[in-house]
Amino acid sequence: MVLSFFIVYIVGLFERLLSLNAKIYIVVSMMNISTRMSCLKPSATVSLNEKVARLKKEGKSIINLVIGEPDYPTPSIIVEEGIKALKEGKTKYGASGGGTLLKNAILDKVQRENNLNYTLDEVVAGIGGKEILFHIFLSILDPEDEALIFTPYWLSYKAHVELSGAKLVEVPLDFSDGHVSIDIDKIDSYFTPRTKCVILNSPNNPGGYAFSKDNLEKLGRYLLSKNVWIVSDEIYEYFSFDREHHSILNVVPELQDRTIIVNGMSKSFSMTGWRVGYALGPRSVISKVKSLESQSSTCIPGFIEQASSLALKHGKELVQTQLQTMKMRRDFMVEQLSSIKNLGFIRPQGAFYMFLNVSHWYSSDKKDSLSFCEYLLSGSGVAVVPGVVFGKDEYVRLSYAASKADLEEAVVRLKKVLV
Ligand SMILES: Cc1ncc(COP(=O)(O)O)c(C=O)c1O
Repeated sequence: MVLSFFIVYIVGLFERLLSLNAKIYIVVSMMNISTRMSCLKPSATVSLNEKVARLKKEGKSIINLVIGEPDYPTPSIIVEEGIKALKEGKTKYGASGGGTLLKNAILDKVQRENNLNYTLDEVVAGIGGKEILFHIFLSILDPEDEALIFTPYWLSYKAHVELSGAKLVEVPLDFSDGHVSIDIDKIDSYFTPRTKCVILNSPNNPGGYAFSKDNLEKLGRYLLSKNVWIVSDEIYEYFSFDREHHSILNVVPELQDRTIIVNGMSKSFSMTGWRVGYALGPRSVISKVKSLESQSSTCIPGFIEQASSLALKHGKELVQTQLQTMKMRRDFMVEQLSSIKNLGFIRPQGAFYMFLNVSHWYSSDKKDSLSFCEYLLSGSGVAVVPGVVFGKDEYVRLSYAASKADLEEAVVRLKKVLV
């Protein structure tokens, strides 16, 4: 039953309490929102970033190491192409799931850089990797299905899986010795008859690790015996600092009929605001993702498609200098933070994050990652993300996609606090 009623007060009481000279009309709505949405929270990283922006605007000296985006601009050649396309009138609806210009550019890119072969009906593009991932999970998961993920994990997978009605099953990774690998013997115990997919994300957000070729191959061989989808999010592919990036399909190509590869323009080309993501996989699922695109965001704007196609055509070469800079920042942060006693972390091999174990500093007033982050923000003005949102409450995530000056200042402040 839907209850909706008005309560009207002549507010003698409130007038006295609040010194108001007016009547207050309180409208109490009892309309329900869907049960599906009850699990949904706004993205913690996006909210935190907004809070930091507010504090900065108020004049506070904050070093923002929250958000996951490169700090350098989109390469000018891409921007110019976007402007050119706008002037050419590429401002109308385009093809749902990506036009042939973009899709061909993606196919060429994965052939050239990843040695993977797909056809036009096995690729789909949409408004960011996030939207593409959401539509993939909606396409492959039924209510009560289970999706396996390695902890720590990027927070939106949980929201996407749960909105699909399914359950996220966390498989903890052992990284006590500073290195990360999947223990194939242990993963077996997490499979149930309801396991429908395994989510991989290497290089990893928030962990900063990347699976070795050998480990991926072992996992891939094991997964051949399982009837599950593999969603391999390779959006940080270009940020592989210590070894060449390997997709699970490079090491176990037989998995192509059940693997969906996700990638996008945001991180690779510093195009977070342009909102372009894509997926490659079997026609059965790609066609469903395409239908979802057509029923939701419709299409990627034409001028953005044109600029993205040019970026993909140039590929990794276009951002080589920026990637070198990011690697230097990684080295700087690892060197500096290694000297802080009791601070544990995985040595980052990829992406642009460090996942720091700060539990040594937990006490009665900062007993978890959330209160620790608040303490760090208010006490030293360094903004980082609580690990609880990534499934690990003893940790916080720091993004080193920031200027050298900011990173140097952050290190000084962190060293003062973490004693
Ligand atoms: C692991 C991972 N996958 C996907 C995305 C989505 O990126 P976008 O929607 O900007 O393409 C992000 C963004 O932070 C991410 O960290």
